[in-house]
Amino acid sequence: MKKIAMIFGGQSTEHDVSVVSGLYISKCIDKQKYDVTNIYIDQKGIWYIYDSSNYNIELGEQLDSLKPITCLTDYLKTFDCIFPALHGLYGEDGTIQGLFELLKIPYVGCKVLGSSLAMDKVYAKIIFNQAGLKQVNYEYIRKHNDKYIYIDKNFNEAEYSLTEISKLIEKKIKFPMFVKPSNSGSSIGITKVSNIKELQASIEEAAKYDKKILIEEGIEMRELECAVLGNEDIIVSCVGEIMSADDFYDYDSKYKNASSYTVNHADLDPKIEDKIKKQAIKAFKSVDGKGLSRVDFFLDKENNIYINEINTMPGFTGISMYPKLMEESGIDGKSLTTKLIELAFEE
Ligand SMILES: Nc1ncnc2c1ncn2[C@@H]1O[C@H](COP(=O)(O)OP(=O)(O)O)[C@@H](O)[C@H]1O
Ligand SMILES: [Mg+2]
Repeated sequence: MKKIAMIFGGQSTEHDVSVVSGLYISKCIDKQKYDVTNIYIDQKGIWYIYDSSNYNIELGEQLDSLKPITCLTDYLKTFDCIFPALHGLYGEDGTIQGLFELLKIPYVGCKVLGSSLAMDKVYAKIIFNQAGLKQVNYEYIRKHNDKYIYIDKNFNEAEYSLTEISKLIEKKIKFPMFVKPSNSGSSIGITKVSNIKELQASIEEAAKYDKKILIEEGIEMRELECAVLGNEDIIVSCVGEIMSADDFYDYDSKYKNASSYTVNHADLDPKIEDKIKKQAIKAFKSVDGKGLSRVDFFLDKENNIYINEINTMPGFTGISMYPKLMEESGIDGKSLTTKLIELAFEE
């Protein structure tokens, strides 16, 4: 039997989601084929062997009695394959993938480059543009000390104050706008703004999470998501839809508002669905995707398809879009996790 290390938790703002994802994936994995060890990383970055018969993270039980893993790299080398069910910073951004590369252990999902490209919204946009994928209008700025640097599409830079840069952005993009930290997830640090005062405040807010800030034109749209699976030959799911109960799909509507829901197979013109599926594969390939990703799109009233983002380790809980879309397309949790592990070995 192959030994699998199932890693979850982690130091990002998406720690809690990762715990639920990890425990769910662990449950799905075929125990006839694989010997699974659960490993929990706490918010400080300390690694523990997690035995669910003794501890319940979801109930917030004390983890003091868990023994930290000593000699981490030696311990990790005892596994045949690693499944990092980590979302966000230090888990989905290429950093932990770099550690697995150094240790020469196969792991599930995107490699260093694909993970970091997809995690950074600004750089993902540059690649998507190169791949001919349509996107909403956007601008890119960077905070430096108490100044803001405007970076044009050819990487020319100019320094401004917060007031000046807000005025400049106002000339370039229409309200409402979405202000986003370039490295973010679960909508954390993202604000929708409808005037220059709000724009200024939200730039400062986003800068708390990342020096690189993306400002996008907000559009009225349907939110559609598509799951991909594979390294070379890609399996693509049907297209699902997000029905957000709030003004936009922010953290609370994602995880707390019970009126938000998802549709596994969106009601779409088959031609549009087909285009979205093709674009999902293109997006995945363009960031050097491996294993899995969920590719998110916007569809406006004129049937324009815009790519929003690609998530290389999408939410993977019992109610998450990624496993649901795959299930809808005939691949259940057990076959999905088996396939993902096989794809890791193939690389
Ligand atoms: N340009 C936009 N126009 C309209 N809604 C948007 C736009 N950008 C983001 N949103 C809304 O904000 C949510 C979070 O933005 P997203 O870029 O997906 O960040 P995250 O990586 O945190 O999921 C989206 O799911 C969508 O509801
Ligand atoms: Mg999103």
